[in-house]
Parts: sequence; C-alpha cells; structure tokens
Amino acid sequence: MMKKPSVLVARAIFPEVLQQLQSVFEVDHNQNDEILSPAQLHARLQGKAGALTTGSERIDGPLLNACQGLKIVANMAVGYNNFDVEAMTRAGVLATNTPDVLTETTADFGFALLMATARRVCESEHFLRAGLWTKWRYDMFAGAEVHGSTLGIIGMGRIGQGIARRAAHGFGMQVIYHNRSRLAPEVEAECKARYVDKATLLREADHVMLVVPYSAQSHHTIGAHELALMKPTATLVNIARGGIVDDAALAQALRERRIAAAGLDVYEGEPQVHPDLLTVPNVVLTPHIASATTRTRMAMAQLAADNLMDYLLRGQARTPINPEVVQ
Ligand code: DGY
Repeated sequence: MMKKPSVLVARAIFPEVLQQLQSVFEVDHNQNDEILSPAQLHARLQGKAGALTTGSERIDGPLLNACQGLKIVANMAVGYNNFDVEAMTRAGVLATNTPDVLTETTADFGFALLMATARRVCESEHFLRAGLWTKWRYDMFAGAEVHGSTLGIIGMGRIGQGIARRAAHGFGMQVIYHNRSRLAPEVEAECKARYVDKATLLREADHVMLVVPYSAQSHHTIGAHELALMKPTATLVNIARGGIVDDAALAQALRERRIAAAGLDVYEGEPQVHPDLLTVPNVVLTPHIASATTRTRMAMAQLAADNLMDYLLRGQARTPINPEVVQ
C-alpha cells in the first residue's frame, strides 16, 4: 500500500476539517494551538509534503532550504504577508490562500467597526457598565455622522469594493478611493466610487478605511504625515494588516485629538498591542476578527484543506498564489 503523504496543520482548526485531512494524509496537528516558534516549525516540517498555516507562521528562504520535501503551504487567510512568495517559487513550493470566501463577511466587519468607531459604541458601553450613567445629556457621546458622509477607501480589491457598495448603496455615502491601479469604469460605476490621489482622499474623507494588503511598499501607509492631512473630525479604520498604520503615531494623534477616533482590528506586532493604544478612549480595538463568522471561518479552513488535498493528491490547487510552480 502507498504511504500517505505527511502534512503539518500548524494551528488548531475545525475538527471536521482535520478529520478529512486525516483520512488521506498522515497529519501532525497542533489542536492545542500553541504558537510554533521558527525552530519548532522547522522541526515539525521535516518530512512533510504540505502544511496548513494561518498567518502566524513565517515561511521564508532559510526555512524552505531546510525543508526540501515541502511541496505546498496552504494559508487559511486571504492575506499572505507571512509568506516570502519569491522564495517559495524559487524552491518550487506552491503557496495558496483563501480569497473570495471571506469577502462579504470582512466587508460587513469593516462597516461594523466604522459604525462602532464613529458612533462611539464601545466608549459609551464602558461608561454605562461602569455605572456612570446618571442622567441623559444632549451631547452625550455625540459622534460623527456616517450616512451621507464621505468614505475614503485605501485598497480597492474585492473587500474594498464590498465596503464601497455597502457605503454607496446602503448609507448614501460619497465614496472616494485610492488604489495601486484604477478600477475599470464599470466597477467604479457599480461601487459609485471616484478615484483620487492619497492626499486628496485623506483631506476629503470623513472616514478613512484601510483594506490594502501588507507589503514593504504599503508599510506605514498611514503615519504622522498622513494623519496630519486628515480632518480633525475624521475616523480611521484598519481591517487590513498591522504595519499599514504607524500605531505609535496613531496613538499620539488620538490622544491629541488630531483625528476624532480610530477602529483597529489589526496591529503592528500582534497579538501585542501598542500600550499607548490601550490607554486612549477614542479607539475601538478588536483582536483580528474581521473574517470571524462560523460559516466563513469554516469555508476558509475547508478551502485551505481542499488546496492541500487537491495539490498533493491530484496535482492541482484551487487558489494558487504562485501558479507558475504547478506548470
Ligand atoms: C485574512 O484572511 O487575511 C484575514 O486577515 C484573517 O487572517
């Protein structure tokens, strides 16, 4: 009988998805969900043909050189800044991610964070829970208008477009966007979105939403200079990746009320959060949950598992990042 290929599942996943993998592979799993150090990852990848990762495992040249049998790493995330894709391609290792299945859910969350931030939902809830609500006041937790205001979206991929559609069609917002490349006219028309340069977006937007993938080029897309361009009444929402915002500069701008508020789902060096962000009241902080509905997380896990099974058993993957490896 042919020996089953061995794979590593680097983080805990849904048991039913793990069972599917166990039916066709020898699976080394991590259901107790300890974060693997680079040395542990290196050790556990020995003799493995594939790995399922979640974004917390760095796959780079030195690791690949030491794991010669590896053929595929399937990320259970649409973002893949934990992969050195060039090094993976050079090593002949297929990289896959989980696009599409999380688009609408993540766009929903972008809107949830925008609403919570602009309308001061968390700040007012803390006030109530602390027993501080003794009387109603006309200006109590007065926030920023969302409907009819101007939303600036930086990064207009699938999720950015989902947010634009919600904003324009559901909330009657004016949508402006900035992106590496301008969208096709029919997509702009469907999203009711107008292309502007980054400085114009920062000056004109009442709310700025970041949905840009992380790369060396997008590092600190928003820093002190950009924050200074924003309206003092504006809010900033980051559902993209840590490192897109200079968190120290943001904390200072929030403390000095140079912008009104921020909503953050991602952080530089997460799961650590810059200590200054934890002490300013005008920021809503969530722990990287934009895609976290049960159905979507299940779809992401299933797609990552399908990529592993399809590639290792049939030579094809569903959502390759570097398809040239397959040819
Ligand atoms: C993604 O899919 O990239 C989300 O940020 C979840 O990790």
